[in-house]
Amino acid sequence: MSIGVCYFPEHWPRERWGSDARQMAEAGIEYVRLAEFSWGVIEPTPGDLDFSWLDEAVDLLANHGLNVVLCTPTATPPKWLIDEHPEILQADLDGTLRNFGSRRQYCFNSSQYRAETRRIVSAMASHYADHPAVVGWQTDNEFGCHGTVRCYCEDCSAAFSEWLAAKYDDIDDLNEQWGTTFWSQQYASFEAVDPPRPTPADHHPSRLLDYYRFATDSVVDYNRIHADIIREHGDWFVTHNFMGDFETLDMHKVSDDLDLVSWDSYPTGFVQDRRAADPSMDELRAGDPDQVGLNHDLCRATNDAPFWVMEQQPGDVNWPPYCPQPGDGAMRLWAHHAVGHGADAVLYFRWRRCLEGQEQYHAGLMKQDGSPDRGYSDAQDVAEELTAVDVDHVDASVALLHDYDNWWAIGVQPHAPEFDYWEHLRCYYCALRTRGVQVDVVHPDAQLDDYDAVVAPGLHLVDTELADRLTQFVEQGGQLLVGARSGVKTPANQLHETLAPGPLADLTGLVVDQHESYPEDVPLTVEVDGDEYAATIWAEWLDPDPQTTVVATHTFGPGDGRPAVTRRNRGDGSVTYCGVWPGSELLDELVAELLSRGGIKHTSRLPDGVRFNERDGLTWVTNFTSRQFELDVPTGAVVTGGRTLGAFDVVVVSTAPYRISISNETL
Ligand code: GAL
Ligand code: ZN
Repeated sequence: MSIGVCYFPEHWPRERWGSDARQMAEAGIEYVRLAEFSWGVIEPTPGDLDFSWLDEAVDLLANHGLNVVLCTPTATPPKWLIDEHPEILQADLDGTLRNFGSRRQYCFNSSQYRAETRRIVSAMASHYADHPAVVGWQTDNEFGCHGTVRCYCEDCSAAFSEWLAAKYDDIDDLNEQWGTTFWSQQYASFEAVDPPRPTPADHHPSRLLDYYRFATDSVVDYNRIHADIIREHGDWFVTHNFMGDFETLDMHKVSDDLDLVSWDSYPTGFVQDRRAADPSMDELRAGDPDQVGLNHDLCRATNDAPFWVMEQQPGDVNWPPYCPQPGDGAMRLWAHHAVGHGADAVLYFRWRRCLEGQEQYHAGLMKQDGSPDRGYSDAQDVAEELTAVDVDHVDASVALLHDYDNWWAIGVQPHAPEFDYWEHLRCYYCALRTRGVQVDVVHPDAQLDDYDAVVAPGLHLVDTELADRLTQFVEQGGQLLVGARSGVKTPANQLHETLAPGPLADLTGLVVDQHESYPEDVPLTVEVDGDEYAATIWAEWLDPDPQTTVVATHTFGPGDGRPAVTRRNRGDGSVTYCGVWPGSELLDELVAELLSRGGIKHTSRLPDGVRFNERDGLTWVTNFTSRQFELDVPTGAVVTGGRTLGAFDVVVVSTAPYRISISNETL
């Protein structure tokens, strides 16, 4: 378990590099990520490559016992390249070029940019081929950041036509599968299909879904260019630093070409930027453990291996609306939390606050004058605490199914502004985590045999093959929980001819008679055994068959009295279908029942902001709140910390979560 940092020596005079390296080593840092965004320094004029500064930095770090992760610098093409080849620029939906002046301006389908990429990546990889301190490579930086997965330029238009020609038998097949008779949208050739540029009404949902798939595949191809060249030159790991809560890039697909999945975690930024409209003060200081944890668990489960946090928030950051200082100890807490979720290394971004450029208001572990900032001592503490920790992979008994295609399909037709696929998934995730269980976030195609329970909140696009696999899982003793809007559409984004949940109707033992959506502030209600529970946004009136039990009934609106949640035993397992967006109390009922049926040991409901992570015999108890708790754990089990769990604190114990209880909350 290692701590690392992202370092930009090119921003600082050489005289400072020595003390930087020394202070890194003193903090217990083991990995340093370098050279991201450095193309302009490596190749100041065309063809004039200068690695001398980077050689010096790598050697200096190596002399201090530090390992280096190099990055391909392609997120920032230099000015001369853009001037020589303006055709590499991306185009917005309306055709506006994404110009020089920041980063990520290039189009993934530009053949010119692909050639330039091959040239610079080959030069770097061959230059560092035998350097013992260079252990791995990060391709580019955050593919898709600043809304750049989807480009609408002419190169993309041509590439989209080719992509469609490879996917469909012929143009009639495309017309049929998309259903282009609607509003006279038939195409006579693949060449005639262009990117979905501005049009008066919504675009055709099947065309949009394919464009989104095509855009992600363009990144997959582009990433593979880097990975292949790097592997030609050395026996290194290849990773990419993905973003959190990120919709437009299919991480599952890109990761097929990676040895290691990594991502960039900014808890207090995310909670404002991508989740709560009105975050609590504790969330502003430490973020939401489930928002962060969901991304950790996605990264870990994607290649079923430990992952890295390639960028960890080091203190205050520059990009959310507001930037309160994180709670005391939060930078330590985040690293522990990541390790508990299965990270093998956590690298803080960045080493030192920058004097120049767009990120001057972003903290580093060091202040700009070279003195330690708040994050430095946190990093030092956690590095020290983790030296003694040697743990294997996380073993989860619950799988949460996630497929980007479903995110995109629901995103195209949300049918309620508040129906956000990822938020809906996160509610189910949160309910599971509140019961102290470990969750693998996996693609529906993943091997499910090893799980005791599978939760599928938004399985919108379903074919018979997937329905058959899920049926087999249940018949062999698995417990399945299916959420609303599942089985509604074909993978081509057309409605199934049969009523929802389409191919899942037989397994779930029901059909959906009606669906309706409401603003989030309209309180929907259902009844379970005489008790009322809240739901929100979405309601389906279910028609169960005689073998299916009604678990909850609507007590709201014209669906009053109609089944809302059902359960059916099948083979050795059972399947529960939830036809509403359930509130947290109803969700907890459903999840607790699922875990009990699956024989999955779990805890009583954990307080908000407190979470358990079990990894190879150790449990991390993390507190993302300013409150204090007392832990009741077996004698001798405490590894790090004590029995008091302080504000933004962590305790590590050598026992299973369900043996720990939390009490005596004090303010
Ligand atoms: C990340 C990005 C970094 C830096 C950081 C600031 O998204 O990869 O280069 O911009 O945000 O928080
Ligand atoms: Zn393009």
